[in-house]
Amino acid sequence: MNIIIFGPPGAGKGTQSSFLVEKKNMFQLSTGDLLRAELKSGSDLSKQLKEIMDAGKLVSDDIINNLIEKKISDPSIKNNIIFDGFPRNLDQAKSLDQMLKKYDQKISAIINLKVDYSVLVKRISGRVSCSICKKPFNEFFDPPVDPKNCANSQCETRELIKRSDDNESTVTNRLKTYDEQTLPILDYYREKGIVKDVDAMKAINEVTDEIKAIISNL
Ligand code: AP5
Repeated sequence: MNIIIFGPPGAGKGTQSSFLVEKKNMFQLSTGDLLRAELKSGSDLSKQLKEIMDAGKLVSDDIINNLIEKKISDPSIKNNIIFDGFPRNLDQAKSLDQMLKKYDQKISAIINLKVDYSVLVKRISGRVSCSICKKPFNEFFDPPVDPKNCANSQCETRELIKRSDDNESTVTNRLKTYDEQTLPILDYYREKGIVKDVDAMKAINEVTDEIKAIISNL
């Protein structure tokens, strides 16, 4: 089963994907995480990427599709992928269809996290994540229970880190990009009859329960 987790910046895509990784042993394919890993390399490409991401714009489809194909072609995660933050425009959605066909796979559902934009800035400005296991927390809504460690001992030396694009002006641009380029692809998937709407205004565990129920019926 492959799933797309869909929604605006701060909707909870990463948070809910980590549940699916933990409980269902699925592979989280987050294009944002792959790009942030590239940023750390200090390569020429990383400088271009940082400029685009800090402006809240989309990275080119060629770069993204190349990253995605490397993963979709990996037999060890075949039919067990959560796409988090991809596809983000119609061309990416169509490329995904072609790649899935090529590797004999399909999407079972799009989990559409529905939220009021009014809560997103607070969710994003409060977001921190573990420097080691990457688990996301929120200073307002979901603070870490243990200030020194996550749930496992490998995170004993962790720091809680903030993303450089989590500031108010970049968030406004990210939302604009989402409205203009990403939201319209929902219609493409609605026509295929695979969109499952979820009320993501609820508490994190309630959203998880809704997703669990959807997945168990797939
Ligand atoms: P990306 O990393 O994908 O960021 P995003 O889509 O903007 O999404 P976020 O990671 O901000 O939010 P999320 O929905 O995962 O929320 P989270 O679970 O963390 O992309 C970053 C950039 O990379 C893009 O702007 C673009 O430049 C580039 N890029 C990435 N993919 C690309 C692509 N395919 N094509 C082109 N460019 C691409 O939750 C947020 C916070 O809220 C957390 O603190 C969490 O604890 C809290 N929270 C979550 N759920 C709840 C809840 N129900 N109640 C209260 N708090 C909650």
